[in-house]
Amino acid sequence: MDWIGIERDSGFLGQRPEPLSDEDFARMAKFVKNKFGLDLTGRKAMVESRLVNYLMDRGFDSFSEYLRTIYDGGEEEAANLINRLTTNYTYFLREQEHYDHFMNTFLPAMRNRIAAGELCIWSAGCSFGNEAYTFAACMEDYFEAHGGSACDRRILATDVSRNALIAAKTGIYAEAAMQVMPAIWKVKYFTERNGFYTVNDRLRSQVVFKYHNLMQPIAFKKKFDLIVCRNVMIYFDKPTCAQLIRRFYAATNPGGYLYIGHAEAMPADTPYIREQTAVYRRDR
Ligand SMILES: C[S@@+](CC[C@H](N)C(=O)[O-])C[C@H]1O[C@@H](n2cnc3c(N)ncnc32)[C@H](O)[C@@H]1O
Repeated sequence: MDWIGIERDSGFLGQRPEPLSDEDFARMAKFVKNKFGLDLTGRKAMVESRLVNYLMDRGFDSFSEYLRTIYDGGEEEAANLINRLTTNYTYFLREQEHYDHFMNTFLPAMRNRIAAGELCIWSAGCSFGNEAYTFAACMEDYFEAHGGSACDRRILATDVSRNALIAAKTGIYAEAAMQVMPAIWKVKYFTERNGFYTVNDRLRSQVVFKYHNLMQPIAFKKKFDLIVCRNVMIYFDKPTCAQLIRRFYAATNPGGYLYIGHAEAMPADTPYIREQTAVYRRDR
C-alpha cells in the first residue's frame, strides 16, 4: 500500500485471464448494483480494464473464477472490487459555494444546536477525508470568531472504500493536495514534514471516520443537521438516487440541510426544499 492507502499490484503478473463474458458482466453488474448501488450499464470495457491487472496479479485464470470468490461471500474481495470500480477523486475546498453557505447561512441558523452542543454533520462518501477536514476547519474558524460549544466529534465521515478510510484516518496529504489551501490553514491545522502535511489533533478530534455503505439502512443514533453527499450519486441510477434521498430526508433534523454535488441532479419527487443550487433544506 502507498501513503494514500492505494494497493499497488505486486509487479509479478500472472497469465492474462480470458476476456470478461457478457454473461459474467451482467451477473456482476447486478451484484454490484444490489450491494453498492453502482450502475455499470454500458461500462463493460471500463470494468475489464480496471480489473484485468488485479486478476493477473492475484493469479485468477478467469473472471468467472474471480467473481465466484465474491459471490461466495468474499467480503474482502467485494471491498476490493468496489475500490477498483469507483474513483476516490476529491480535494480540499471542492465546490467552494458549499463552504460559503456553511459559514454564512448554515452555522448562523444552527446557533441553538451549537449552543446545546448537539450539532451533527455527516460527510457521506467522504473518500480521503478532505471534505470532512475542510468542514472541520471552517467550523474551527467560525467558532474562533463567534464563540461556540466545546463539544467535539461533530462530523461523521463515512465511505464504502476501506482504503480511502485508512488514508482519511491517517490524515497525511502531499504538497500537491494542499495547493488550494489558504496559507493560514496550513499553519493552523497541519504539520508539515518533508513535503507531507499531517492533520493536527485539533481538527482530527472533530471527525469520526466509519465504514458505511449508502445502500444499507441509515441506523446512526442521531439525526443530522447537515448531510453532505457530493459526487457519489453520479454512480447510481435514478431510482437508487430517489431511494437514497428519501433515506437522507428521514435522517435529517427538521430545518436541517443536504448538500449534493453541483453536477448532480436532485430527483423530481424530492421531499427537500431547494434553497440554492446543490443546497436543500428539510422543512421545520
Ligand atoms: C468521487 S468520491 C467523492 C468524494 C467527496 N464527497 C467529494 O465530493 O470530493 C466518491 C466516493 O463515494 C464512495 N462511494 C461509492 N459508492 C458508495 C456507497 N455505496 N456507499 C458509500 N460510499 C460510496 C466512493 O468510495 C468514493 O470515495
